[in-house]
Amino acid sequence: MKYTRFSKNDKLDYNLVFVYEDKLSGVNKSIGCSKALKDIKKAVSQKLICGKLGSMEMIVSTMYDSNYFLIGLGKKSELTIQKFEKYLSSVIKKINKYDIGKISLDLSDITIKNYDVLKGSIIEFEKSNYNFKNNSINHLKECFIKVPNNITKKAFDDTKRISLAIAHGLNTARKLGDTPPNICNPTFLARESKKLEKLHKNLKVEVLDEKQMRALKMGSLLSVSQGSTQPAKLVIIKYTPLKNKQPIVLVGKGITFDTGGISLKPSPSMDEMKYDMSGAGSVVGTMQACAEMNLKNNVIGILACAENMPSGVATRPGDVVKSMSGITIEILNTDAEGRLVLCDALTFSKKYKPKYILDMATLTGACLVGLGKYPSGLFSNNSTLTQKIKKSADVTGDRVWELPLYSDYFDELKTNFADIQNIGGRYGGAITAAAFLANFTKDEKWAHLDIAGTAWESGNDKGSTGRPVKLLTDFVMTNK
Ligand code: BES
Ligand code: MN
Ligand code: ZN
Repeated sequence: MKYTRFSKNDKLDYNLVFVYEDKLSGVNKSIGCSKALKDIKKAVSQKLICGKLGSMEMIVSTMYDSNYFLIGLGKKSELTIQKFEKYLSSVIKKINKYDIGKISLDLSDITIKNYDVLKGSIIEFEKSNYNFKNNSINHLKECFIKVPNNITKKAFDDTKRISLAIAHGLNTARKLGDTPPNICNPTFLARESKKLEKLHKNLKVEVLDEKQMRALKMGSLLSVSQGSTQPAKLVIIKYTPLKNKQPIVLVGKGITFDTGGISLKPSPSMDEMKYDMSGAGSVVGTMQACAEMNLKNNVIGILACAENMPSGVATRPGDVVKSMSGITIEILNTDAEGRLVLCDALTFSKKYKPKYILDMATLTGACLVGLGKYPSGLFSNNSTLTQKIKKSADVTGDRVWELPLYSDYFDELKTNFADIQNIGGRYGGAITAAAFLANFTKDEKWAHLDIAGTAWESGNDKGSTGRPVKLLTDFVMTNK
């Protein structure tokens, strides 16, 4: 899609205008043409337009010969990023069903604290272009965006460029997540990552196979792929345009299908465990965005890819394995496999002398139970890093909620048969999982995002959300 800064002489046949239920009289501000304004004011007075959250009315201005979609955003003071993006995306979906090629979008009266509304809107438009089966035709080709006057042409173009890079990365993450698990296996993730090398001369992809991982003594990661015919892969995506600068390392859980292994999962909704590689998908998407926007920062992505299957050669509950760090692990539940692949990837990542390490993982059902689908769970051993992540979440609307890492949780991982066990007690499962990982990142500034509730939608709108690509791209852009 094409995005053009709206200038006052532009006249479009179709126009998107936002209205607030408590500022209905203010609707005049957004309508450039006095003739159309007359029609709209009449519709307001006839109560055809209410501005209620989620309402959408279409007004045909016969006098000005143009059409207006008026999207209600509720009370102005109660507007949030989530509401704005939700109703913008639903109106885009609707318009794409008509044969409408060009529209105008008026953003001049949308202000949400710390939020870049132009960037958010372009990303929503681009998201609407994604469709896994490629079976719907989007008619919309160009959007003329009205922004406040203080946004210059250059600022508009810069935001556009960055937003497109982010949106493309986000859609890549969604595509990888939605790809069926008989296709999207560890080898596929490695191959798709390798394709990124074309984007930028400073982007390099290395893939370690099981033999190389065995040489590195990654006994924990390799124990997960042991029961599968699909070999594990460790993918390293390096985007390092700057000399002598510590990188930010992003580590993603890449379980391409999680059956639970011998601790087999129940069958209902097991298909959704194809999304268990969403952490890795979000890392690929973020790396793509970095390269595409020509980011001036060093970022390294590491994907810990394996398939968790039961079989005659799979690990058993009770098995003890030795991780790359030397820490031995008693596997009490083979379904707690994410932490087993991540711990070795985290240990491996230290060789890059990272400024920060962030890992993203659909790690626990407990996170979903505790926090629901709206925020990702946030855990960290460093308060500065925590604040930085919260800030990126705040400005992008890609929300997080922090959970504690008290030493009590670490005590739950004690066992008589190894250094640690891979599960805690009955309660606080998202936290004991994070505590497990924290054992491997003691000397680093590390944070963990549990995206079990946020990486995909279930039900009729089943599909990957691409989260937390927006958060991660903001993080790497603002922590140079
Ligand atoms: N991938 C799952 C977590 C998950 C489950 C995410 C459902 C989203 C929806 C993970 O590997 C897992 O199975 N975790 C177990 C841990 C338990 C065995 C300690 C869980 O959450 O049940
Ligand atoms: Mn599992
Ligand atoms: Zn899993």
